[in-house]
Amino acid sequence: MQREGRNLVVAIDGPAGAGKSTVARQVSRDLGYIYIDTGAMYRALTLKALRQGISLSDEEALTRLAQETEIRLTYKDHTQVIIMDGEDVSVEIRSPEVSRNVSLVARVPGVRTEMVKLQRKLAERGGVVMDGRDIGSYVLPEAECKVFLTASPRERAIRRARDLEASGYEVDIDQLEQEIITRDQIDSTREMAPLLQAPDAILVDTSDMSFNEVVEKIKEYILQKK
Ligand code: DC
Repeated sequence: MQREGRNLVVAIDGPAGAGKSTVARQVSRDLGYIYIDTGAMYRALTLKALRQGISLSDEEALTRLAQETEIRLTYKDHTQVIIMDGEDVSVEIRSPEVSRNVSLVARVPGVRTEMVKLQRKLAERGGVVMDGRDIGSYVLPEAECKVFLTASPRERAIRRARDLEASGYEVDIDQLEQEIITRDQIDSTREMAPLLQAPDAILVDTSDMSFNEVVEKIKEYILQKK
C-alpha cells in the first residue's frame, strides 16, 4: 500500500466490458483507497423497483423511489458491500433480470440526481477510486485523475463470451459484438450525463494490454499527480 502524499479522487469511466471494475478495485487496493462502484447503486434501485412492480417507464415513481431509498456502501475484505434499506443486496443486484433492466432506471434524470448527490458525498474526503460512466465528465469534474478505459467492441465481446461460457451459456460472438455496438450508441447519446470521455481524461485502450499492464499504467498516472 502506498498512501503517502495527498488523497486524490480518481474517476474511471468507460463502456461496459472495458474492465473498469476489476481494474478500479485493484488500483484502489494497491493505493489504500476506497473503491466506489456507482453502477451498483443504479442496480440496487432497479432491484427495488422490480420487487415493487413499479413500471420502469414511470419516471415520477422511480424518482420518488430514489428519494426514499437509503443506499449505503460498506466493505468486507476490500470488497464493496451494498446495503439497500438495511439489506445486503450485493449478490442479487448482479442477476440477469437486474442487468437487463438497469439502463431503463439509470436514464431517469430524477434518479441520477439522487445518485449523484450520494456519489459526491462519498468522494468529499478524497482517497477514492470511483468507476462509472459519467464520473469524470459530470459527477466529479474536479477529480485530479481521470481515466477513460475502453477496448474494441470485438475484444469486449470476446471477454463477455468468456464469462458467459464459464457460466454454461452458448454464445455467438458476432451477435454479442453487435449488441455491444448498439448499447454503446444508446449510452453515448442519452440526454442526461451520457457516456463521455472528459476532455482532461487519459484514454487507455485495453484491447491489447494485460490486466497488470493496465493497473500499472493507471497507478503510474496517479502517482505522477500526487
Ligand atoms: O457498470 P454496471 O454494468 O454495473 O452499470 C449498470 C448500469 O448503470 C448501466 O446501464 C450503466 C449505468 N450507469 C450509469 O448510467 N452511470 C454510472 N455512473 C454507472 C452506471
